[in-house]
Amino acid sequence: MDSFLIHGGTPLYGDVQIGGSKNAVLPIMAATLLTAETCVIRRVPDLSDVRFMVKILESLGAEVHFAGGTLTIRASAIQGFGDYELIRKMRGSICILGPLVARLQTATVSLPGGCIIGTRPIDLHLKGLAALGAKLTIDSGYIRAEAPRLKGAIIFLGGRAGPTVLGTANILMAATLADGVTLIESAACEPEVVDLANFLSSMGAKISGIGSPTLTVTGVEELHGTDHEVIGDRIEAGTFAAAAAATGGEVVLHGARPEHLTAVLDKLHEAGVRAERTQGALTIKAGSALRPVDVTTMPYPGFPTDMQAQLMTLMCLASGTSVITERIFESRFMHAAELMRLGADISIEGPSAIVKGGRPLSGAPVMASDLRASAALVIAGLAGRGDTRVNRVYHLDRGYEKMEEKLRRLGAKIERVDGE
Ligand code: EPU
Repeated sequence: MDSFLIHGGTPLYGDVQIGGSKNAVLPIMAATLLTAETCVIRRVPDLSDVRFMVKILESLGAEVHFAGGTLTIRASAIQGFGDYELIRKMRGSICILGPLVARLQTATVSLPGGCIIGTRPIDLHLKGLAALGAKLTIDSGYIRAEAPRLKGAIIFLGGRAGPTVLGTANILMAATLADGVTLIESAACEPEVVDLANFLSSMGAKISGIGSPTLTVTGVEELHGTDHEVIGDRIEAGTFAAAAAATGGEVVLHGARPEHLTAVLDKLHEAGVRAERTQGALTIKAGSALRPVDVTTMPYPGFPTDMQAQLMTLMCLASGTSVITERIFESRFMHAAELMRLGADISIEGPSAIVKGGRPLSGAPVMASDLRASAALVIAGLAGRGDTRVNRVYHLDRGYEKMEEKLRRLGAKIERVDGE
């Protein structure tokens, strides 16, 4: 397993190219199962999660070609039985269920498990499919969904933490081929859901209300192939913005969409970090000192849970106390204990982390526990004094393409080594 060795204390300066969005491309890849025709997807980041989804699509019978950031997928002859071990390992793969049952009338996939950030139930996915008329059975760790043809319905998809991103994606995809009109209420409004809806529309789906909490889908008989470019990854952009701010540097993010980052930029501004929007780019400049801010994670357009860990690192460096409240996932504070190894003062009280910032961080060996926690530890290593070893960076490789190379081009002293 690879580790990162980081020698901290160098401000980041320069330009960085933001890649295509992981959380947009995974459901879009699943959506190619809705047609027998060829789909071309561009600006695809080369991530282990994307490679994993390629394997899943291939195991279903799709022909997939991935080179130079372009995916070409042809799912002309597919079967609806997903490999248990493959699907179980990646939560994002649950969104093959909707397209498979819509196209093949039957689908069997393994139930995704919980993960380190929470139990991550799929009750809302199942509620939506049942409302569309699918008969669902759970047996030996598999979900089997069957329906002669799905039927349009009114479906409320809000859960205890608000809308569900992949649940909305799953039901939206299934509804495109259903008979009649489907109304998805309390739909997720994340830019990744919008990108999926645009992809589906370009395949011939009839969707209105895109980007709003109410999606109306009029089912069609069939969808066709398309050519689509994925949106820039707002979380990768936010992560590099936090790294620039934490190290006291100045970084130009190319290909970032500031309109997808409003809540993050607002918090950075409150913390004393400057952001300038220019044509096709966003410049992040550290201020003279970081100020503490309170933040609560929320569904879009609120502050994203996927930026909570990175903001926590930043708050460790701001003089004063900040309160970071996690409202989306129940146990997404694994990074706090690792940040404390670097000298941070953080206490967890229920859903909130109380960060007493301003103490200098100093390098130590730390363990990455999930994707965004890993990013937070890398930022802490870059901002701290001395050497930090971040172990198990395979978590990071799930969602950041060549992160260490991009950071090195900004002046960071970071290398990938064989490790624990
Ligand atoms: N929830 C339910 N029932 C469901 C589905 C979700 O109660 O059937 C709950 C979840 O337990 C959670 C909340 O609803 O409390 C929101 O979860 P959501 O379904 O929106 O999460 P997701 O779709 O499984 C995606 C991203 C996550 C991101 C969340 C929230 C992908 C592949 N994953 O997960 O990304 O944190 O939305 O924005 O798109 C990451 O990239 O690091 C990551 C974890």
